Amino acid sequence: MPWIAEDRRNTRVAQSQPLLTDELKKQIADTYFPRYPNKRACLLPALHMVQHEYNWIPPAAMQEIAEFLEIAPAEVIDTATFYEEYWLKPKGKYLIQVCRSLSCEICDSRKLTDHVCKKYNIEVGETTPDQRFTVVELECLGACGNAPVALINDVMHEDLTPEALDAELNKLPDDPHDYKDPGIKFASGH
Ligand code: FES
Repeated sequence: MPWIAEDRRNTRVAQSQPLLTDELKKQIADTYFPRYPNKRACLLPALHMVQHEYNWIPPAAMQEIAEFLEIAPAEVIDTATFYEEYWLKPKGKYLIQVCRSLSCEICDSRKLTDHVCKKYNIEVGETTPDQRFTVVELECLGACGNAPVALINDVMHEDLTPEALDAELNKLPDDPHDYKDPGIKFASGH
């Protein structure tokens, strides 16, 4: 019996409101179109922008990006799945990333991971039910001299102990946008 192939090339992901809003489209067009030779070349920053907005990249957004950049949805999915930096499932407001490479491992990074997992009752790669924390391990962050290290969102913490990490986690603000590296000066309004 011959296989009957279903034509899903034009299948749409159900989404009532566009995720790639007019404002996001304008930001992408204004910021990146002038910098790149064609729309297709703007795919990586477009994915970053969507991830920044929603904290992950929903499937419907990938379809909308494809339409906006006039490329195939498969190309967007290929790219988004290739890079680990893109999140294709919801992640917590705070992403705790503990380095597990050699220097950090020698300096007991495992204790940090175990401590965080126990504190929030989740495994590595999981998110707390309230969507506040996700814990992952990652490779060398380039701060081996101050191992063990971890990132909480974009903020690096060095020479960590479980107690020091715990203290940092306990004082995180409700809104992750208010959480910034104290060593970095941001222009007012950011
Ligand atoms: Fe952890 Fe290099 S091994 S920062």
